[in-house]
Amino acid sequence: AVLARCQTQTRFDCFPEPHGASQQACEARGCIWNQQSQPQSVPWCYMAPGVGYKLGSQSGATYSLKKNSGPKNPWGLDFPDVQLTTKTYGSILNVKITSGQRYEPPVDFPKQPATSSEQLTLSTDASTDVFSFAVVRQSNNRKIFDTSIGGLIFSDQFIQIATYLPSENMYGWGENTHQNIKHDFSGYLTWGMFARDQPPNSGSLDTMNLYGVHPYYMLVEPDGKTHGVLILNSNAQEVTTAPGPSLIYKTIGGNLDIYFFPGPTPEQVTQQYLSFIGRPFLPAYWSLGYQLSRYGYKNLDDVKARIGAVRDAGVPIDIGVIDIDYMDRYKDFTTGSNFNGLSSYVQQMHDWSMKLILIFDPAIEVDYPSFQRGISANAKFIEWENANQVMHSIQDMYPLAKDTKIMLGVVWPDNHVAFPDFFDPTSNTQNWWISEFKNYRSQVAFDGIWIDMNEPSNFGTNDPHPWYFDNPDHPNAAPLFCPMNNSWDMPPYLTHSVWRFGDASTGAYLATNTLCLLAVQANNQQRFYNTKNLYGLSEAISTQQALFQSTGKRGAVVSRSTFPSAGRYAGHWLGDNTARWEDLRTSVIGAQEFNLFGIPYVGSDVCGFNGDSNEELCLRWQQMGAFHSFFRNHNTIGAPPQDPAVWPSVAAASKKANLFRYQYLPYLFSLHFIASMNGGTVVRPVFFEFPMDTETLNLSEQFMWGKSMLIAPVLKQGATSVNVYLPEDRWYSLSDMTYGIIVSEGYRTMSAPTTSLIPVFVRGGSIIPRQTPAITTDATRQNPFEALVAPDANGNAEGVLYWDDGETIVKDFGSHPYHQWQYTYNFTSGGTTRLSIKHSKSTTVPVPTLDILEIFDFRGTPDYRSFKLNGQTVNINVQTSSYSPITKRLYISTKG
Ligand code: GLC
Repeated sequence: AVLARCQTQTRFDCFPEPHGASQQACEARGCIWNQQSQPQSVPWCYMAPGVGYKLGSQSGATYSLKKNSGPKNPWGLDFPDVQLTTKTYGSILNVKITSGQRYEPPVDFPKQPATSSEQLTLSTDASTDVFSFAVVRQSNNRKIFDTSIGGLIFSDQFIQIATYLPSENMYGWGENTHQNIKHDFSGYLTWGMFARDQPPNSGSLDTMNLYGVHPYYMLVEPDGKTHGVLILNSNAQEVTTAPGPSLIYKTIGGNLDIYFFPGPTPEQVTQQYLSFIGRPFLPAYWSLGYQLSRYGYKNLDDVKARIGAVRDAGVPIDIGVIDIDYMDRYKDFTTGSNFNGLSSYVQQMHDWSMKLILIFDPAIEVDYPSFQRGISANAKFIEWENANQVMHSIQDMYPLAKDTKIMLGVVWPDNHVAFPDFFDPTSNTQNWWISEFKNYRSQVAFDGIWIDMNEPSNFGTNDPHPWYFDNPDHPNAAPLFCPMNNSWDMPPYLTHSVWRFGDASTGAYLATNTLCLLAVQANNQQRFYNTKNLYGLSEAISTQQALFQSTGKRGAVVSRSTFPSAGRYAGHWLGDNTARWEDLRTSVIGAQEFNLFGIPYVGSDVCGFNGDSNEELCLRWQQMGAFHSFFRNHNTIGAPPQDPAVWPSVAAASKKANLFRYQYLPYLFSLHFIASMNGGTVVRPVFFEFPMDTETLNLSEQFMWGKSMLIAPVLKQGATSVNVYLPEDRWYSLSDMTYGIIVSEGYRTMSAPTTSLIPVFVRGGSIIPRQTPAITTDATRQNPFEALVAPDANGNAEGVLYWDDGETIVKDFGSHPYHQWQYTYNFTSGGTTRLSIKHSKSTTVPVPTLDILEIFDFRGTPDYRSFKLNGQTVNINVQTSSYSPITKRLYISTKG
């Protein structure tokens, strides 16, 4: 390994800019130019060896480092002194490199110490001029992070750190579209991380930065032990995977504030990560139901017709979602005349046990009552730093904004908009936002909130020919132009987020599609350059409060832009995908990644947002989406309808898939409950459960529900089967009606015609709670509980069920009213104990009884009368119970 590292010397790119690289320009930077026989992706211009700091002095866990005599940084003045300190939060190790007082993201993490059987320690090497440190796993002495590769750079607006990695099994980083769940180290691939209104492009390898920022990865080491790493930084940043394997991380502000989570299992890594950043909110039970949405509903009758058609087709559906069309000219908290009657339709939906989710954008038009009320309440909006920066030609058109420093932009509304400052230290802004929701809720009784465009998106920034403005509906609209003579909009290093598109000469800026980076928030205390990536998170925090206060219920918020800890407040959808097979496939990866990020309430726009969907694609997407927590069919304006009722075949397949989902909702809800209470994933990569099985490490196209169900969706056009990998264990197929046939490990082709459910397997050793499904989650919840028992090789199985009223706001789990059942099954041929149930509860809310058991691999002659539940003989209805000696499936029903 040492030899390999010498041979593949990582090159630190010295000319990432899209234009102007040449030998001369490279050498002028003091860098090395070498283009000989290197594949294109290897930097030709790279830093000379010796970049870094040397040890000055050490006192306890604080190392004072001094800039060494190695090469200088092309993008800023290296700080002569930096400090490295360590800290622990239980088993979490924090290594922080900073210089004096630097920007810290104002994010309120709980930082609960995490426990682990493993310990991580810091080791340092000051034997050369290039000081390095490593993070070492004590149990096997493995360096999980090893900066002896060099390359540490620390200046005000350019910071770099690099490390060797113990394997290439790296997952996470976001938000990006990844073609595979495991990262690619074959060349130098750089990924941007900077929140932008940027639709994913799944058509080819594309390293663009999308809506949110997650500087977090997980890595499976060669022996299957796993760790996680968070770099807590909110600036524009990028990461490069390089041979070695090695990793190069760059950011243009803040600190290198790095947190190491020791695992050793992937799920434990997630739990440790979430104990630090915060665990996900518990979605309302109904929010796990099926959602129908589109952009471009013409009017309320259009909504009614599509929801009606889906219901008439017998497809279980819980939620109608209405996009910006319901508003009066896209102004938040208003209802357009085409949607007169919305409030009575909501009552109708509620009578059907359906719910309504409405969209709200952060941008507020500056000439209508909501804005007026904001100004009167002294709410704050993102501002220019100085009054003399204001673009008066625009500002003066709006009496309410005229004498303010508010930075005006343009989003969907016809006239200019302002962006609420959710970091307002007085809370006036947050309170005004909440009161707007309360006001509107008293008119239209929505149940959930969808927040969009919160990167924040602003149309046409710095664009001399902006597409949106060529429209008679918004004659006043004029784009925002940012002054470029400042180090926030034009920092020396622009990152891959800009350079992938070019530079100022090609119209690419950090501010593209957003506000100027020199803007300020929180009374000039926060610079947008630093806070931009936090905008969605800050909005989600206030919006969750708005939801709680306006509805009094748990509900659900979904947000387009996210940052670590956003999962505490909101879920996420994967953005404006396209109706293509590639996008269906990458959404399977995206949902797994967001579970790693602590945002398990996640899914994609089912059937595809942009472009025209088609029958087969939509059918397969409905079938797959039924296994994502956030399950919403959504479509863009102008595209033909794609709800399941459009095609009889899609309606039939969706009905089947949705009925399966609704049947297993008690299990899906329990997974969310556990994730919220203890941390963890819901949709889970297969390697989480089988990290020792190297074949699982790059399984991008199948995933698990918790530890007990494996799902293998059909992702290819024309396919009628799936090649499924089953890790070594016992698996029972649920989809092909063979009930409880045990299939062995390895790849196997499973038939998957469009007319049946996609392949789903239950893992031996599991007990899965469920209910007979109905047309809504609410109706399903009234049915008796059932348990599916899938024994392991020894005839044992276990499972849990968590249950509450589905809508009470969870303040803390200690005082939250809920039920918990633990099921244990043991097949002892001559014995008496079959199933025992431990029930604990902190509520007296009545719950359905457990009436049905489906037991696979029941090897024996069942005597129904002697079946014992908690040691008691159960009164079984022999008429409705059955056993097949061929499939060994025992079906026990206590009811007629
Ligand atoms: C954005 C959203 C999309 C929505 C549209 C109109 O593109 O990502 O989901 O339909 O805006 O509100």
